Amino acid sequence: MNDATIPAERPLSGKVALVTGAGRPQGIGRAIVLSLARAGADIVVTDVARKRADILVEGIGLCDSMTGLDETATLARSHGIGAIAVACDITDEKQIEAAIAAAIATYGRLDILVNNAGTGLGAGAFETIEDTVWRLSWEVNVLGAVKTCRVAQPHLALSGRGTIINIASTLGLAAQPGYGAYVLAKHAIVGLTRLLAAEWGPKGIRVNAIAPGFIHTDMGAHELELIAQLRNIDVAAASAAVLTEIPLGRLGTPDDVAEAVTWLAGSASYVSGVILPVHGGVVSGLN
Ligand code: NAI
Repeated sequence: MNDATIPAERPLSGKVALVTGAGRPQGIGRAIVLSLARAGADIVVTDVARKRADILVEGIGLCDSMTGLDETATLARSHGIGAIAVACDITDEKQIEAAIAAAIATYGRLDILVNNAGTGLGAGAFETIEDTVWRLSWEVNVLGAVKTCRVAQPHLALSGRGTIINIASTLGLAAQPGYGAYVLAKHAIVGLTRLLAAEWGPKGIRVNAIAPGFIHTDMGAHELELIAQLRNIDVAAASAAVLTEIPLGRLGTPDDVAEAVTWLAGSASYVSGVILPVHGGVVSGLN
């Protein structure tokens, strides 16, 4: 983007954001980075950036090298802001510390943390999920966010207007059969959001979450395959069935989620402890 196309109004100008899980081309993380960049924030773009067969879900994939991450950072810089790409596996606290240290060394502050990284690992009928899978889902989806919040907190407090946005799921607000460990993990993210909003509000840190519904990413496509399997229909029929269940009549896009993140990060200055569904009005399941 050249100067002429950079929006005059940039509500996040002067702010620094760190986004996890932002290295995949079709992923929600990249869309979040680009939305924050358009709003003027400088950004530390992170993802696991190495091969991890243990958390690889067939049909979804992982960001397993620096290539996708560097690409996200380059795209972000085209919006006239600063962006660096840093490998960060959120199950490793040392890597989280290094990523946040990179934010401070490069930009001198951290104002916005977006816990987007996640894995669909552990979906399936309850009886079929093994302890190793329960643990891995918990380690990535829950403890990963817990650790990142813990390491970021002193810097977010120093910001004076620090904020955390967790990417939960409608499956964190309601249960549907067949989603196994993912349902537990996303319910925990909802609880984490409410807990930290209560505990860190006095430090000036707002904590909110977004609960996306069906979003058109690789993970979303995998979910359609899962529904097809559960209902014993083909993927096209599953897609048609899902669309009839969404009042707005379309799947969500990564940008739909990203724009809500940017709103929570900036203008929503008196909003904390909220779980914002971005799901086209769908009824999410048993709650
Ligand atoms: P995605 O699989 O493209 O993105 C997840 C990202 O997390 C990937 O870039 C992956 O490399 C990264 N990641 C996985 N393990 C990691 C680790 N240990 N350390 C650092 N990064 C790691 O999927 P998508 O759809 O973009 O999902 C983004 C977030 O949105 C996830 O938290 C997901 O659970 C959530 N979500 C997605 C929905 C959908 O329909 N696509 C619906 C509801 C929630």
